[in-house]
Amino acid sequence: MIKTSWSDLALFGGQPLFSEPLHVGRPNIGCKDNFFRRVEAAFDRRWLTNDGVCVRELESRLAAFLSVRHCILVSNGTVALELAIRALRLTGEIILPSFTFIATAHAIQWAGLTPVFCDIDPQTCVLDPVQVERLINEKTSAIMGVHVWGKPCAIPELTRLSQQRGLKLIFDAAHAFGCSWDHRMISAFGDAEVFSFHATKFFNTFEGGAVVTESDALARELRLMRNFGFTGHDQVAALGINGKMHEISACMGLNLLDNLDEILETNRRHYQQYHELAGVIPGLNFIRYNEKEKNNYQYIIARVGQEFGLTRDQLVELLFAENIVARRYFYPGCHKLEPYASMLRYASLQLPHTDRLADSVISFPTGTAVQAGAVKRIADFLSFVQSHGDEISAAMQKHGSLGSNN
Ligand SMILES: Cc1ncc(COP(=O)(O)O)c(C=O)c1O
Repeated sequence: MIKTSWSDLALFGGQPLFSEPLHVGRPNIGCKDNFFRRVEAAFDRRWLTNDGVCVRELESRLAAFLSVRHCILVSNGTVALELAIRALRLTGEIILPSFTFIATAHAIQWAGLTPVFCDIDPQTCVLDPVQVERLINEKTSAIMGVHVWGKPCAIPELTRLSQQRGLKLIFDAAHAFGCSWDHRMISAFGDAEVFSFHATKFFNTFEGGAVVTESDALARELRLMRNFGFTGHDQVAALGINGKMHEISACMGLNLLDNLDEILETNRRHYQQYHELAGVIPGLNFIRYNEKEKNNYQYIIARVGQEFGLTRDQLVELLFAENIVARRYFYPGCHKLEPYASMLRYASLQLPHTDRLADSVISFPTGTAVQAGAVKRIADFLSFVQSHGDEISAAMQKHGSLGSNN
């Protein structure tokens, strides 16, 4: 339905633009036949977990794809972070951005260590190495950078800093599968990099994750740890947990690896369309990826500025009503979420760039579940909303929604 007046908006009783919710990250499925063929073979082998045939095949194909020596598949990205922290024998404090998914911080806290939240560089939206340096003290054991939305961290600066100060360096690469920096795949930087293969990610195994590393010793340790520390049938050599990936997840991974180019093409097309059609709207500033590098284009991100005429939260509310499930990703910074928000340690923490980004950022629906034509309809809607900003804002205030410019 074309909107010609603010009263046509679904928030005020109009018909929603989409009949079904349009999500930011509906799972990529790939070829169902390919997946079921692989599952059937796994069933025939009656080998469903414990370092199965498919897990091994996926590990070796991922290591080749990522140009990294070791890929250790695990049950999810959070467990991958936890295992990396333990296997690297980290202690005390770890410096990380607050602008990340809560799992990055929780993995550190869960290990009994202290997350030290650092501000981001407002230009790049990733960890600011200058601020990181200021936070290093005798308790610091590591830096954990996050390649947010697949945008690489300041890799050379963080590498230099960690080497100079004798710290370990981990990258949370949950968003960065298939991305590169300096024409090298995100995978082999730092001591370890960690991926999430959650269903909403560019590449998924339903639930799943991986630690990748160049270190033989670290890889050995991680393999032991993900399987209770078993070295043989009745031999346990170390403390471990159950962090294994099962065969059905690995079947999904193998299926999607065969379909990655197609998924990437869809993501890239949506990204270009958003930029061309919605990137011209005043006050909607889309985040760009470096076209000279590999990107997965999984996240369509914009910052909502004053010129847009409505706040980010007002826009999200309007979009939700139209069945466009845009997200505030990430909001708020981890330091404002529990348990950190209630801890004395973080009570006076000021991270102005993190706050500004978290307050202005919006993530739009994309992926293979978004049909051709949907992006144009979303862009037209955004343009309509922007050009009627004052009226809509006034109507929202009357309606009792987020009308105030919060
Ligand atoms: C930046 C980041 N780190 C870690 C994770 C945790 O991964 P998982 O959901 O696979 O445990 C996610 C997942 O969404 C994430 O976005």
